[in-house]
Amino acid sequence: MKIPITKPVFDDAEKKNIIKPLDSGWVVQGKFVAKFEKLFTLFTGARYAFAVTSCTTALHLALAALKIKPGDKVIVPSFTFVATVNAVEYTGAEPVFCDIDLKTFNIDMGQLETILMKDKGHKIKAVIPVHLFGLCAEMEKIVKIAGKYHLKIVEDAACALGSKIGNIHAGVFGDAGCFSFHPRKVITTGEGGMVITNNPALAQRLTSLRDHGASKTDLQRHTAKGGSLLPDYDLLGYNYRLTDLQGALGVCQMAKAKAIINKRRIRAGKYNQVLQEERNIITPWVPDNYTHTYQSYVCLFTNGESRERVINYTPDKINKLNKTRNRIMFALEDKGIAVRQGTHAVHTLGYYKNKYGLRSQDCFASYIADRLSIALPLYAEMTTKEFNWVVQVLKNALKKYAA
Ligand SMILES: Cc1ncc(COP(=O)(O)O)c(C=O)c1O
Repeated sequence: MKIPITKPVFDDAEKKNIIKPLDSGWVVQGKFVAKFEKLFTLFTGARYAFAVTSCTTALHLALAALKIKPGDKVIVPSFTFVATVNAVEYTGAEPVFCDIDLKTFNIDMGQLETILMKDKGHKIKAVIPVHLFGLCAEMEKIVKIAGKYHLKIVEDAACALGSKIGNIHAGVFGDAGCFSFHPRKVITTGEGGMVITNNPALAQRLTSLRDHGASKTDLQRHTAKGGSLLPDYDLLGYNYRLTDLQGALGVCQMAKAKAIINKRRIRAGKYNQVLQEERNIITPWVPDNYTHTYQSYVCLFTNGESRERVINYTPDKINKLNKTRNRIMFALEDKGIAVRQGTHAVHTLGYYKNKYGLRSQDCFASYIADRLSIALPLYAEMTTKEFNWVVQVLKNALKKYAA
């Protein structure tokens, strides 16, 4: 039995809708993208939503619209997908790596404040909290800290469709929130992303920068009188527009989003139940009042130790555990079950390590998460038979390789 890490949910609705732009001949950003954006505002509660080609371009666009520029610095958690940090590099600003809390895999509040207190030249202009794997970062505290230090907030909500603190959806706490529709995410348009904001002036800059810096969108130009004349371009913009083919998919996916998230949460709950007495791995932790949507179901392999003990291990000891973690993942792979490390510690990746002279110990919790995390398969349509097989193979591998 082959079990993928995740699987998108498509049915006849997507097949029927994607034909419509082909039939009409309007395949670039148009009415389907507009409808997708509208549905997104209704789902998240944001005032404005702008579809773009990916979350990576969403992050770049948000930073550019907030006028982040060379000479500025932007705080990023070190345990995230590399795209979060690449978006900062694209602006010419410098990323400042902040460690994570190993319990949530999200940015560590203590470290965040320490970094800001040391920023005597006030070069740090923004922070990008990442809602990793579908669990919100501690946004109430981040908003307070950002207010104190005059920082802009761009939320990386790539993994966080449906994720909430109380009733507030990820992406609406900060100045802007960025989402991904890559197939590993809760809903997908192949590739795709969305930026949301409640700020009308920022919304104006986002829509213009997405479209080469144009003062009018393509659709506005084609539907209004005088469309034969090109509009003014008063900003240096980009082409980050989503196609209407993808917009047509997005509209159908939004109709399914709630159901997909519910099914994922039920499946994750079952993993929690059956893995709770497995002493060698720690299942995801969810603070009170937070809605985790489990874009990935990520455990920490600790070989029977607590997180608090593991954080004090030497790098050598972590590397030894890492070898065992890898053996366990390979055992699942051998049985046709796709697993992954959660994500990577970006400060250890060649480009960043070399450019900024960073060492593994600089963000040690991120390093541990990189070395010891295991993402298990999770998708809305996962059958009980598939689920039981994953659990059985995982338990056998833990028995064989862990202490
Ligand atoms: C935390 C995070 N940020 C950004 C991205 C980039 O998203 P995209 O692939 O849509 O550019 C991803 C994708 O995996 C991600 O996990």
